[in-house]
Amino acid sequence: MWDKFMEEFQEKLEKIRQGGGPKRIEKQHAAGKMTARERIDYLVDPGSFVEFGAFVKHRSTEFGLDKVEAPADGVVTGFATINGRLVGIASQDFTVLGGSVGEMHGIKIAELLDKAMLYGVPVIMINDSGGARIQEGVDSLRGYGDIFYRNVKASGYIPQIAVIMGPCAGGAVYSPALMDFVVMSPSSYMFITGPNVIKAVTGEDVTKESLGGPQVHATISGNAHLVGDSEEHTLDLVKELLSYLPQNAKERPPIYETADPINRTIDDVFDIVPAEAKMPFDVRQLITRFVDDGHFFEIMPGFAPNIVIGFARLGGQVIGIIANQPSYFAGVLDINASDKAARFIRTLDAFNIPIVTLVDTPGYMPGTNQEYGGIIRHGAKLLYAYSEATVPKVTLILRKSFGGAYLAMASKHLASDVVMAYPTAQIAVMEATGAANIIFRKEIQNAPDPEKAREEKIREYREKLLNPYVAAARYYIDDIIDPRATRPMIYNALQIAKSKDIHEKLPKKHGNMPL
Ligand code: HXC
Repeated sequence: MWDKFMEEFQEKLEKIRQGGGPKRIEKQHAAGKMTARERIDYLVDPGSFVEFGAFVKHRSTEFGLDKVEAPADGVVTGFATINGRLVGIASQDFTVLGGSVGEMHGIKIAELLDKAMLYGVPVIMINDSGGARIQEGVDSLRGYGDIFYRNVKASGYIPQIAVIMGPCAGGAVYSPALMDFVVMSPSSYMFITGPNVIKAVTGEDVTKESLGGPQVHATISGNAHLVGDSEEHTLDLVKELLSYLPQNAKERPPIYETADPINRTIDDVFDIVPAEAKMPFDVRQLITRFVDDGHFFEIMPGFAPNIVIGFARLGGQVIGIIANQPSYFAGVLDINASDKAARFIRTLDAFNIPIVTLVDTPGYMPGTNQEYGGIIRHGAKLLYAYSEATVPKVTLILRKSFGGAYLAMASKHLASDVVMAYPTAQIAVMEATGAANIIFRKEIQNAPDPEKAREEKIREYREKLLNPYVAAARYYIDDIIDPRATRPMIYNALQIAKSKDIHEKLPKKHGNMPL
């Protein structure tokens, strides 16, 4: 008797596991892509995946769909552990109706998000889809709506990671855009309207890759946080990213043991950070010297490289780093740098990750391009995000720290917990040449030798104001430190601020961030 039931069950299960069938799987492999199930297998701890809704079927009868079987309705959903920590996963199956989102497909993802919120675990959404299932019409749009709404509800409570491993087009792009991180594989692409529509509307000739390939989103649009160089590497990046995040906003990220002594000094720091403020250097060289085991997990490395953001650990505890990059446009703050950093600060704050800020910037970028683009609004995001963040905030001013950028880069005035400076720090309203030209304009003009007078005034300004001691005397910075002790000094500051407890007292719904 059991045989009959088991035979039917095994047959159905096998069909579901085959997705769109051997031919389409072969096509998927030939394109250098894993199937939806292979991706899950690669990502999770062996044997830990518990699938929900494998037997779901669509109920559409239009346009021949009554004759089409769509195993699992084109998306594999469930829960698994990654390095022992529970996550919710949805993996779209391109071999089944092009991974398109029909009514049931949408319901499965929406329910996964609901459950992930209920259990307080991160969600990973692997996108590989032709978009809304055209045959199902408005029912498929409803599916997207349900997903978007839950993405927003879950935002700031559970980490949400979108992995793009194939097409992600049209309105479908807005689920990844609403999530915390977007990780792209080499053969993926994202766009609102594809090359054909663009050609028809604007006449522009573009390819899928040049319009929305991973390099475009990693360097030009800023929509991608990380890009893998293979499908496996893409999923490895997701695993590492998760290791820096807590399960939800009520928890802290996991602590990892390290053999790296917390009192380790950086003896070659004077070779890394030039004392001359105008000399460029790669701030990542300093970061890798003071964090645990020299490991820095950079986020969005190719977009707005004038600011560096990423995760690391200090004494085993996760920290988020925001650092001006003096080797790219002197570390100037522009629209993209402000957006990049502000969004990351909010992500860190949402997930209880302390913020370490390294300051070395000449200020906000001048020019019509930036002004017309709204640098006032975008730059304000940085101030807003730092002011709003209640996690421990430790700031180290390395060299240049002028004007609005001094204030915006996690100054004491925006409630940073500990602000320190190297002896090379220059904290002032502006740099010396510009300052001397403005405040001593008449004296310079009227001097018998204006050039000599200008040089003298610049020197005078530099000596009087371009140092950390004036700010320290006003107690705008807490300490001036020996750069060799960067690692223990930042660690100790974070330890002090660790137990801080801030509750917003004003009776408001939420602030009104300049978006
Ligand atoms: C139904 C779809 C589909 C879709 C693909 N398929 N997209 N079925 N609805 N949206 C099916 C194909 O018919 C095909 O079926 C199989 O999936 C694989 O597709 P191919 O075209 O053979 O694959 P490929 O050559 O790799 O091209 C991939 C593609 C192309 C570029 C994604 O399929 C495509 O252009 N699809 C339509 C994209 C689109 O316009 N979607 C609607 C966007 S609007 P068979 O049986 O032959 O294997 C949208 C609105 C969302 O998404 C709104 C949210 C607010």
